[in-house]
Amino acid sequence: MATHPDKHNPDSVDFLTWAVHGGNSIDEGTGAVRTPLVMANSYRLPQDPASMDWSATDRLTYTRNGGANQQALETKLAAMDHGEAAATFATGVAALHGVFFTLLKSGDHVVVSNVTYEAVWRLFAELLPERYGIEATFVDVGDLDAVKAAIRPNTKLVHVETIANPTTKVADVRAIANIAREAGVLLTVDGTFTPPPFYRPLDDGADLVIHSLTKYINGHGDAMGGAVIGRTELVEHIRHDAVVDVGGVISPFNAWMIMRGSVTLPLRLAQHLASAQKVAEFLDSDRRIAFVEYPGLPSHAQHELATRQFGGRGFGGMLAFAVDGDSDTQNRFVDNLGVITSAVSLGHDETLVVHVGPDARGGSESYPAGFLEYGHLRLSVGLESVDDLIADLRSALDKTEITGARKSVK
Ligand SMILES: Cc1ncc(COP(=O)(O)O)c(C=O)c1O
Repeated sequence: MATHPDKHNPDSVDFLTWAVHGGNSIDEGTGAVRTPLVMANSYRLPQDPASMDWSATDRLTYTRNGGANQQALETKLAAMDHGEAAATFATGVAALHGVFFTLLKSGDHVVVSNVTYEAVWRLFAELLPERYGIEATFVDVGDLDAVKAAIRPNTKLVHVETIANPTTKVADVRAIANIAREAGVLLTVDGTFTPPPFYRPLDDGADLVIHSLTKYINGHGDAMGGAVIGRTELVEHIRHDAVVDVGGVISPFNAWMIMRGSVTLPLRLAQHLASAQKVAEFLDSDRRIAFVEYPGLPSHAQHELATRQFGGRGFGGMLAFAVDGDSDTQNRFVDNLGVITSAVSLGHDETLVVHVGPDARGGSESYPAGFLEYGHLRLSVGLESVDDLIADLRSALDKTEITGARKSVK
């Protein structure tokens, strides 16, 4: 007899079904078929609360310890990433900090990718060493021997991004997880550029995956959040230290918004990935473009790895490029765009572009040559018609009167 799919059991249904129903439950009080938004700081105490553990998270007590909307979202996210448990935070950076704050102490050492989101670079280059005496070695994670060689007796974790912000360098998660496991250290992976079902680092041996929910998982550019997903024992440690007792909790409203936004995650992702590939190919074919970095281009240094690791599902929605010209030319090109919006963030419904100068970011000296010569435009390909996006880019290139022909700057 065929097994009956159960929408509350992620193992029995497809991702599309879980994206709609995961974590949601009928409200006992009203019969509403959607988990309502519970904007309450406190929940009713038991008749005898005198001996309660006020930091407990196993029952609803106080929203900093966990509320109804956070719990629903955590149930949904944990299964989406094939993890046992999830803890949500106010932002992606709060989640990243929560992981490092909980798992590291003075005298510990971390091996971290030499290309990461700016805030992570600053945490490891300045804040954690200066404030807490935590040491970090920045390595090219494409060089597995360098990763191995950087591990010391006091190394506690290795941290990478699946596709790095902003260079689009791809980390070989399985290979790095093997190195970390052999050395007895944890591997934490920022999966913000590659949310499930596109890629799941836990399946390839990572210990924790961290997401900025602000990006693809919410997807609509209107709520911020972060999440840490992995084994229950690790996630609960992080929840107790970094959420309950440090307090970077997500608001119930944002959790509710992200729960709603994530319903369409698999549908949106398919469009982001297909359009980004076409946009990257268009840019790569135009000689007024100085360079394009996108893992879906055969010229990308980790194209083969990306093809294998992402199982042919795509190569992400993010790319970096520059027009052949100085900083002023990049700005004029961006000004000439009509559909694409100049704004930070990524993974939103609308296509976003940011012009970043050659040395505007910490750690940028390890970026590829093109980034150092031209700066770069970070493009988050959104959900508009890809024909309109390409027409917008082409028309902005024409209006900007770029005379340069591409040099070889890989
Ligand atoms: C890879 C990556 N991780 C984390 C973050 C931080 O997320 P949030 O802005 O939600 O704190 C970002 C933000 O751009 C990011 O690109």
